Amino acid sequence: VKKRIVTGDRPTGKLHLGHYTGSLKSRLLLQENSEYEQFVMIADMQALTDNFNQSYKIKSNIYEVVRDYLSIGLDPNKTTIFIQSQVKAISELTMYYLNLVSIAKLERNPTIKIELAQKKFNSSIPAGFLCYPINQAADITIFQGEVVPVGSDQLPMIEQTNEIVSRFNRIYNTNCLKKCTAYISPFPKLMGIDGQHKASKSLNNAIFLSDTEGDIKEKVKQMYTDPSHIHISSPGKVEGNVVFAYLEAFHPDKQEVEELKNQYRKGGLGDMTLKNILNKTLQELLCHFREKRAKVKDEEIASILEAGSHKANKIAEETMQQVRAAVGTNYFIS
Ligand code: TRP
Repeated sequence: VKKRIVTGDRPTGKLHLGHYTGSLKSRLLLQENSEYEQFVMIADMQALTDNFNQSYKIKSNIYEVVRDYLSIGLDPNKTTIFIQSQVKAISELTMYYLNLVSIAKLERNPTIKIELAQKKFNSSIPAGFLCYPINQAADITIFQGEVVPVGSDQLPMIEQTNEIVSRFNRIYNTNCLKKCTAYISPFPKLMGIDGQHKASKSLNNAIFLSDTEGDIKEKVKQMYTDPSHIHISSPGKVEGNVVFAYLEAFHPDKQEVEELKNQYRKGGLGDMTLKNILNKTLQELLCHFREKRAKVKDEEIASILEAGSHKANKIAEETMQQVRAAVGTNYFIS
C-alpha cells in the first residue's frame, strides 16, 4: 500500500514564488513518486479561524489557489485536490480531539504564539483560532497521513498531531490512528524583494505565480541588492543580495550562477546586467505558468474540487467508522 501524503494551504489568495520553492516544488516531485499517494487540501475552515468576517472572499480565493496549482503542473489525476469544509467528518473528528488537549498546551504552541502577537485580536482570541492545530490534526489523521510536507513553522502542529494520536489510541484502546512525520522543503525560505523579510503576500514583497511580464520586470528592478555597490567596477556583496538569492533558487545553470557571484565579488558586474539575467530567468519560468493558467476554466476547477472532495470523503469515512467504534458513538450499528 502507498503511504499517504497530506498537506494543504489556507485559501488566502494568489500563491507566490515563496510558495513555489517552499512547498509546490516538493509536491510536484512527490506526485511522481509511486511510493506515495498525495492529498492536497484547501483549508478553508482553517482560513476562517482568523478571517471569519471576510468569508465572502473565500470562494474566489479557493479558485485562485487551484488555478495556481494547475498552472505549475499539479495534476488532479495524480494528486487529490479537495476542500477541507467539504469533508464534514474533519469537523466531527476535531470535536473528539478537542477533549484531548488542554488550553494551556494550545497557548504554549510556538507558532500560535507568534501569530497571536501579529494578529492583534484585541485581547479576545477566538476559540476557533486557538484550536486550529487540533483541527489540523484531524485534517492529517482522518486520511491516515504519514508524510506531511510543510514549512518549519508547522513543526509544532505535527508534534501536536502525534500527541493527539498517542492519547486517542491509548484512551480508546485502539490503533486506528497513524502517526505522521513532517517533510520539510529542502529549498531555503525565499526572501522578499525588499531583502528584509521572507516573501509574503501581506508584506507586499512577493512575486506571484500569476504576475504579468511587466509586474515581474518591475519587481526585479526594485529588488534589494548591495546598497554599497555604487560603481560597476567596485566589489559587491552576494550575501543578503536578493538577486543572487533568486538566481540560486531559479536559474537552471548552477555553474553560471557561481561565475556571476565571483565576478560580482571581484567587481565589474553591474546590478542592471545582473537584474536583466534574473528577469530573463523568471520570465522563462513564469511564462509557462501563465500560459497554462489562461487555459484553466472555472468549470474545470469546480469539477476537480468536487471529484477530489468526493474521494477524500470516502477515505475519511473509513477512518471515522473506526473512530466512532473506538469511542462508542456508533450507536445504531450492531
Ligand atoms: N496550517 C498550514 C499552513 O498554514 C495549512 C494546513 C491546513 C495544512 N491543514 C493542513 C498543512 C494539513 C498540512 C496538513 O501552511
